[in-house]
Amino acid sequence: MPLTPVLTKRWLTPSSWTLDTYEKLEGYQALRKALSMHPDEIIQVIKDSGLRGRGGAGFPTGMKWGFIPQGDARPHYLVVNADEGEPGTCRDAPLMMADPHALIEGIVIAAYAVRCTEAFIYLRGELVHALRRMEGAIAEAYQAGYLGRDILGSGVNLSLVMHTGAGAYICGEETALLDSLEGYRGQPRLKPPFPATHGLYSAPTVVNNVGTLACVPPIILGGADWWKQMGPERSPGTSIFSLSGRVTRPGQYEAPMGTTLRELLEMAGGIREGHELKFWTPGGSSTPMFTAEHLDVPLDFDSVAAAGSMNGTSALMIFDDSDCVVRATLKWTEFYEHESCGKCTPCREGTYWMVQILERLEDGEGTDEDLATLLDTCDNILGRAFCALGDGATSPITSSIKYFRDEYIAHRTSGGCPFGGSRIAALAGAH
Ligand SMILES: Cc1cc2nc3c(=O)[nH]c(=O)nc-3n(C[C@H](O)[C@H](O)[C@H](O)COP(=O)(O)O)c2cc1C
Ligand code: SF4
Repeated sequence: MPLTPVLTKRWLTPSSWTLDTYEKLEGYQALRKALSMHPDEIIQVIKDSGLRGRGGAGFPTGMKWGFIPQGDARPHYLVVNADEGEPGTCRDAPLMMADPHALIEGIVIAAYAVRCTEAFIYLRGELVHALRRMEGAIAEAYQAGYLGRDILGSGVNLSLVMHTGAGAYICGEETALLDSLEGYRGQPRLKPPFPATHGLYSAPTVVNNVGTLACVPPIILGGADWWKQMGPERSPGTSIFSLSGRVTRPGQYEAPMGTTLRELLEMAGGIREGHELKFWTPGGSSTPMFTAEHLDVPLDFDSVAAAGSMNGTSALMIFDDSDCVVRATLKWTEFYEHESCGKCTPCREGTYWMVQILERLEDGEGTDEDLATLLDTCDNILGRAFCALGDGATSPITSSIKYFRDEYIAHRTSGGCPFGGSRIAALAGAH
């Protein structure tokens, strides 16, 4: 399966981030075309294209835009989710760095379609380089008449504001993001009502991922049928797969949805020499891990779900036979414990307990009962937590026990981690 650069096609061009380069390479042509269309026509094209959100859940984008009530005399908002906190995920920041105008063009088209005149990009504060890059591009777009009042003489207005968060994983959850954007502590809201009717400042709001919006200009230019030629029928288009970990050439690989890890590894030079694939995540740490037996699972929303995991953010973290699955699971669970917002008991207390148990197991001091308690705790979080962060925290644990129970037991029988490198010694060394 060849690389299919659609979103990444400008990335290697010198000064790809400038307006000059963007305009020379089809930039803002989709916006001109969109402004000659009726907003409802644009929503229909996006519906027909079958585009599904790239933020994790894979919700149909055209349908989401269609939920925004019209003629309601309320302001409408478009909020871009650029928080990108899911472990292993690294495609929104590269996109903003290499091709910021692609995102801006997608935003202007989406805002026009849902009749919104104010849009925000919510970016995690650590990404200062992406903030500067986006701010530079936004200034260029205002100057050239692609943003602001009377865009390209169409009578359409749009203001676009960058907002930086303080760096919390929960602020990627769309309703926590909206609270944070309004100036409150970022914690999820009870749904319903959904953002489509009661979002930012309680007004109808579309929240879309960076990658989702960057797909919009090529779809408008190429048409829904062209987009649907790539990938499977129910997950059309391309995806940027982020390969990290034990691969020869880690990085971003854009390929049609439904490409398999085996095919991606061929492009990435395979697992590092002398080692074999052991386990991997198909879409970030919140998605149940896969093993070598899943090398041929098509990486699209439905096929990954059918194989027992989730496509998530196409963040493939790859581990080989030198890696300890218990330690990886402990590290991920420490992340969830740290990032739990504390609003609900199952996640706040459960992640804390699970870290303690995993520490014991990794140190070879766990018992059989510990494994049962871990699974029981997961059972009491999954589906009972207030938001999907809690559900995600159970994924590495349940899937690692499913595929590698023997390795958990080997920690106890060998009195410590069979892969060496005591966790306690590492901690002591750090102080
Ligand atoms: C804990 C948590 C973190 C999330 N982080 C992100 C994120 O960083 N970026 C993102 O686009 N979506 C994130 N999401 C998903 C968003 O809630 C939402 O579904 C998404 O922004 C919708 O955009 P899309 O329809 O374009 O995919 C997160 C969800 C949860 C539960
Ligand atoms: S599951 Fe509960 S505690 Fe965990 S992040 Fe969501 S709301 Fe906060």
